[in-house]
Amino acid sequence: MAIDNDEFRAALSRFASGITVVTTKDAEGRLHGITVSAFCSVSLDPPLILICVEKTTGSHYAIEQSGIFVVNVLNASQSELSERFASTLPDKFDDIDFVRGINGIPVLADSLANLECRLKNTCDGGDHTIFVGEVERAMIRDGDPLVYFHGDYRVIVD
Ligand SMILES: Cc1cc2nc3c(=O)[nH]c(=O)nc-3n(C[C@H](O)[C@H](O)[C@H](O)COP(=O)(O)O)c2cc1C
Repeated sequence: MAIDNDEFRAALSRFASGITVVTTKDAEGRLHGITVSAFCSVSLDPPLILICVEKTTGSHYAIEQSGIFVVNVLNASQSELSERFASTLPDKFDDIDFVRGINGIPVLADSLANLECRLKNTCDGGDHTIFVGEVERAMIRDGDPLVYFHGDYRVIVD
C-alpha cells in the first residue's frame, strides 16, 4: 500500500536542503525561473548535476525547449528571491539583478554559485522530470547558504 500523502510530505520536510533558482529561456525567448530545492550533484567526470522539476510548471517546458539552464545557489540573504521564483508572478525578472550567460540565460547576481548547464539526459520521475545537466561553466562566491527545513527558511548558526 502506498504511503499517505501528508505522511510522505512530513518525512521529506525533515531533510534540510539548500535552495536554488533555476533560470532558462523558452523557444520564443521568454525568460523563466523556478525555485528548486531538488538539486543534487551526480558525477565529477563528466561534471553532471540533476534537478527535479514538476511537469506542470512553465519552466519545465522551457528547459525542454532550450536544453540549457542555470542553477543559481542562493545565499542566506536571498529568501525573497526564493519566494519570488516560487510564485506565479507574470514577470519574475522585473527589478532582478542578473547578467546573461550561455544563450542569454539569466545568471543571478550575488548567488553563492551559478552553474551553467546543457541538458544531457531526461528521466521520468512521476509528476516531476529529472533533468540531468552537464556543467559548462561555474562561478562561485563566499557566503552563507540559504537553507530550507521543515517548511521554513533557516540560516546556519556556528
Ligand atoms: C522552498 C521551495 C522549494 C521548491 N522546490 C521545487 C523543486 O525542487 N521542484 C519543483 O518543480 N518545484 C519546486 N518548488 C515549487 C516551484 O518553485 C513553483 O511551482 C513555481 O511557481 C514554478 O514556477 P514556473 O511555473 O514559473 O516555472 C519549490 C518551492 C519552494 C517555495
